[in-house]
Amino acid sequence: MERFFQIAFCSVLLFTYCVADTARAENGADAWLRYALLDKQAAQQYVNLPSKIVVLGDTSVMESARSELVRGIRGMLGRELHAQDSFPQDKFIFLATTSSLRVAAPDFVQPADLREDGFLLAAGNFLGFDCLIVTASTDRGVLYGVFALLEKMARGESLAGIHEIQQPAALIRWVDEWDNLDGRIERGYAGPSIFFEGGHVRADLTRAARYARLLASVGINGCAINNVNADPKLLDDNLLPELARVADAFRPWGVRLSIAVDLSSPKVIGGLDTFDPLDPHVGEWWQKKFDDIYRRIPDFAGVVVKADSEGRLGPATYGRTPADAANVIARALEPHHGIVFYRAFVYNHHLDWRDLKNDRARAAYDNFHPLDGKLEDNVIIQIKHGPIDFQVREPVSPLFGGLEKTNEAIELQVTQEYTGQQRHLCFLVPMWKEVLDFDMHAADHPTPVKDIVAGKAFHRPTGGFVAVANVGMDTNWLAHPLAMANLYGYARLAWNPDLSSKNIAEEWTRLTFGNDPVVVQSISVMLLKSWTIYESYTGPLGAGTLTDILGSHYGPGVESSERNGWGQWHRADHEGVGMDRTSATGTAYVNQYPPAVSKIYESVSTTPDELLLFFHHIPYTHVLHSGKTVIQHIYDSHYDGAEAAADLVNQWQSLKGRLDNARFAEVLKRLEYQAGHAIVWRDAVCNWFLRTSGIKDQRGRVGYYPGRLEAEAMQLDGYTTFDVVPAETASGGNAIECAPPHTKCFASHHFDGKEGHFDLDVEYFDQNNGRSNFQFFINDHPIDDWAADDNLPAARPNGDSSTRRRILNIFLRKGDLIRIEGIPDAEEHAALDYIEFRARPE
Ligand code: GCU
Repeated sequence: MERFFQIAFCSVLLFTYCVADTARAENGADAWLRYALLDKQAAQQYVNLPSKIVVLGDTSVMESARSELVRGIRGMLGRELHAQDSFPQDKFIFLATTSSLRVAAPDFVQPADLREDGFLLAAGNFLGFDCLIVTASTDRGVLYGVFALLEKMARGESLAGIHEIQQPAALIRWVDEWDNLDGRIERGYAGPSIFFEGGHVRADLTRAARYARLLASVGINGCAINNVNADPKLLDDNLLPELARVADAFRPWGVRLSIAVDLSSPKVIGGLDTFDPLDPHVGEWWQKKFDDIYRRIPDFAGVVVKADSEGRLGPATYGRTPADAANVIARALEPHHGIVFYRAFVYNHHLDWRDLKNDRARAAYDNFHPLDGKLEDNVIIQIKHGPIDFQVREPVSPLFGGLEKTNEAIELQVTQEYTGQQRHLCFLVPMWKEVLDFDMHAADHPTPVKDIVAGKAFHRPTGGFVAVANVGMDTNWLAHPLAMANLYGYARLAWNPDLSSKNIAEEWTRLTFGNDPVVVQSISVMLLKSWTIYESYTGPLGAGTLTDILGSHYGPGVESSERNGWGQWHRADHEGVGMDRTSATGTAYVNQYPPAVSKIYESVSTTPDELLLFFHHIPYTHVLHSGKTVIQHIYDSHYDGAEAAADLVNQWQSLKGRLDNARFAEVLKRLEYQAGHAIVWRDAVCNWFLRTSGIKDQRGRVGYYPGRLEAEAMQLDGYTTFDVVPAETASGGNAIECAPPHTKCFASHHFDGKEGHFDLDVEYFDQNNGRSNFQFFINDHPIDDWAADDNLPAARPNGDSSTRRRILNIFLRKGDLIRIEGIPDAEEHAALDYIEFRARPE
């Protein structure tokens, strides 16, 4: 590779810092941009770093690049960088686009192959002085280069003799936010919208600007700020100036604004009597609307469209195709260089479940493959990574291989809708890697999904990556401090899908928690195994997440997938489980893949175990490649998964004292909760399959819970027993509640086990429509009290609201009176499921 400068220097002097990272008060707001003071050894490497900075260009993006560098170096080295108006007689850091460098320094050798947003970091000699140069073909690329430089320093990487070019894999690296105008976020788990409140754009967009900075730091260049289930009002003329304010907040960080639009807008807010995409008035309406938008927001990026899906109106109303709809909008955007993301998530949610040939997984391909080549060049088909809907495991969507003459973007989900809603740890990068690396065999050369979406495989002009992020007003953006690894990891993959999961996990951990090798090792290991842990207790063998698909998408709800039109069927009955998607006997979904792939999935023997139930309906007694029967695998994986979740708590605890207290405590609380909820999941799914299959757990665990005292078996005063729905989400199917007119109830029990020290888990139901209180007594002495004040996604007792209170190290003698007092509040009836006694090791 040609050298940009003559490489000269970057030797090392000394700089002394010895303040430990753990002393900082941390609330997660800075995410991976903490710029924590480096320790002495790390700081020493940068002691020769120039203290002057020259920036060519005065755009807001270049200003961000400058201020970020000043901020980062101040934070990490405790040094001030001084901006210079002219070239100093001294070494300096030089920020400039390649075009301005060409003018300022015509003799410098330019890197030949810098693509849009790519950058070069180089140590070199300028006018006889050692300099550090950050250059790119665009301002935004320079900004990305500055962030990359700072992140290297934060990780303690050497800059000596640096000459590094980084290029993004794809032009499109976006996030979508599903925010509503009223401030709520669809499938958002971290507080209300940072963009909207009360029907308007927020007056204070500080958080939006900070978010744009965070996005820029990992190379994200576009953000669609509203729900794909779009409110037509967003296009009202009076809202356009408000949207322009969001674009203003984004602009200094090179993030372009986009919005989701509703296809019926020309009729609903435009006063036309139709929204038929082939009606010329409709085309004119869109044209005028976009002309207005671009007058106010010249760098408006384009729009996202969800249509004919889940009740959204679309071209089908007029017998038109998605291509007709996408193209009318594309043509209106084209003069302004805007783009349309048309989502392939189009399916019929009133499918007849009794017809074994029906299959929702077929929908995207069936709808869009016939349109290949019929879409304008500024249309991008946005395809969810799997054919269903962000389940914990799905095969890759066959549509990626089914569009050779159409731009594509992959849609991933950072917000953990089906993967624990940021209450469970689930680092999704390993899953995304599997998808991106999957070879579709769509041509006579390898066609991994990452090359298809980047436009490389089929030589498309554009394409790339989109993730549904759904950050909120919570200080730390995504509620679970470790969930930010998904946002970071997504962006890193969008920039470079060849990075390994391990690499990303370690990078993120270093930036987020510092460089203590024990911390880096432990947290990245926890992250890397968290997806398969979550999978093992929520939906193994590719059956889909066995959650309540009709409601929260959170806790267990095995039955909810069946006997309805939503098509997330796993078809479990007393003999077997799984969807037959083969061409021989099933829905023939497998035929949507190129032959080399469909051949693998057509046969039970070649389908990987982890996707078996996605492709085949098989008896519970079928023996997997692992040597276990399907049913025993279901039991074992749930027990193993719950144990592994409990182990995450231990692993985190081993880091005590190595991290700041606030984030340590916050993560610990969530992992403790997850470990408890994994047991709820384990018991619900295992009991459901035991009941349905009638086949016992070989290891005798399912349905047998030594040490568990059912609340309904206690002596009740005021409390009454009720049936929990679905039954498997409570131990034994029932629980007790303190229903009106009672205002205080008691459940008691004389301990009849062997005396000793015990850890107790009190399983209770914490709904979001009340704040019950509990007190726990032994022999009338108060031992513990707590409030059911979490905001779990449930208004009744079930697998979403079931949670536990741990009471550790209690000494119990035979005959001791255990008593729980419950005080209900509003709709929440202080419901209790069981107490589990676990003898502590002597
Ligand atoms: C899922 C999700 C919806 C969302 C939809 C989509 O079905 O549950 O809330 O609107 O995906 O991606 O359009």
